[in-house]
Amino acid sequence: QELQLNLEQIEKGGYDHFMLKEIYEQPDVIRDTFRGRLLSDQGLIKMAGIEDNLNKFTNAKRIIIVACGTSWHAGQVAEYMIEEFARIPVEVEYASEFRYRNPIINADDVVIAISQSGETADTLAAIKLAKEKGAFVFGVCNVVGSSISRETHAGAYTHAGPEIGVASTKAFTTQITVLALIALRLAKAKGTISQSDYLRNLIELELIPEKVEEALKENDRILEIARIYKDAANCLFLGRGFNFPVALEGALKLKEISYIHAEGYPAAEMKHGPIALIDENMPVIVIAPQQNHYDKVVSNIQEIKARSGKIIALVSKGDEQVKNLADHIIEMPNSTEALTSIIATIPLQLLSYHVAVLRGTNVDQPRNLAKSVTVE
Ligand code: AGP
Repeated sequence: QELQLNLEQIEKGGYDHFMLKEIYEQPDVIRDTFRGRLLSDQGLIKMAGIEDNLNKFTNAKRIIIVACGTSWHAGQVAEYMIEEFARIPVEVEYASEFRYRNPIINADDVVIAISQSGETADTLAAIKLAKEKGAFVFGVCNVVGSSISRETHAGAYTHAGPEIGVASTKAFTTQITVLALIALRLAKAKGTISQSDYLRNLIELELIPEKVEEALKENDRILEIARIYKDAANCLFLGRGFNFPVALEGALKLKEISYIHAEGYPAAEMKHGPIALIDENMPVIVIAPQQNHYDKVVSNIQEIKARSGKIIALVSKGDEQVKNLADHIIEMPNSTEALTSIIATIPLQLLSYHVAVLRGTNVDQPRNLAKSVTVE
């Protein structure tokens, strides 16, 4: 028993929980994920699974992404990236819905299945169905040799290393990293991205590990915020564009480990319903980097403030405008619009972690949840 405990301590590498260790591993594992694949000085992306099947991707009329939970959120980010860069229409489906609704799949569709464990029953069933209908199926998995990695025609591993915490953290950011590489590679092959945008994204991707490191430095400030809101009954997460799925992911993280009811919304959708929930007891986490949708998000923040909601804003370093409106700000470094989704994820992971610890929940093994859902 004691030996077991000591082993676990060693595995946690000095951190109180696997989740925290895995959050802090992100700069390294993101680097591992693009090592050998991203050659920014040469302007190249090399991924064997993509190169070997490049025609299938570039000729695809449509890409369908199937996944569950956090992996589905990575799929949502990928939809924005692939459509923006490679101009291929993308649909993102919950694997559990896809498998039972007699989906329309054509031989010239490419299906991308995303799964950390590679063992999720619904995702596996969706892959089998897509194969039966003649689609080419590409896997984005973390666990080497897993069922999904074996069942797919080709794929790319995320190289995040073992993820023990039930709440997925480093798996998500490495999934986005792989999917960004895919989107940019396809864009290059299709000629749908300017050379300057392409190179800028490559260079920025290479800088992501150090920017994630910088984002992690906000930990103490995030702990303070967690102390203030740990007893909230509800919480809203808002983001736009690439950061809308990040808002969904932030809400899922808070729900699953702290048991606080949380919802993610595209910020502008707030006025179609959720705004009715806002009062002085409602913390609203708004992802508001100084990018495309900045002014729109600022006006969303003003709407929340007018209804006395408590605003926790994720802002670009040095932002003054939102600082004057929000109750709390968390700063993060800027990147390209697409890649900021990786950076914005980090404070949300830390926030849910600290809230859960303060509430005394079992952070690494939340109630009712399993690390991989191998049954329907
Ligand atoms: C994430 O924090 C969850 N534990 C869960 O949503 C998970 O992402 C989902 O079950 C999918 O798992 P997979 O990536 O292993 O297929």
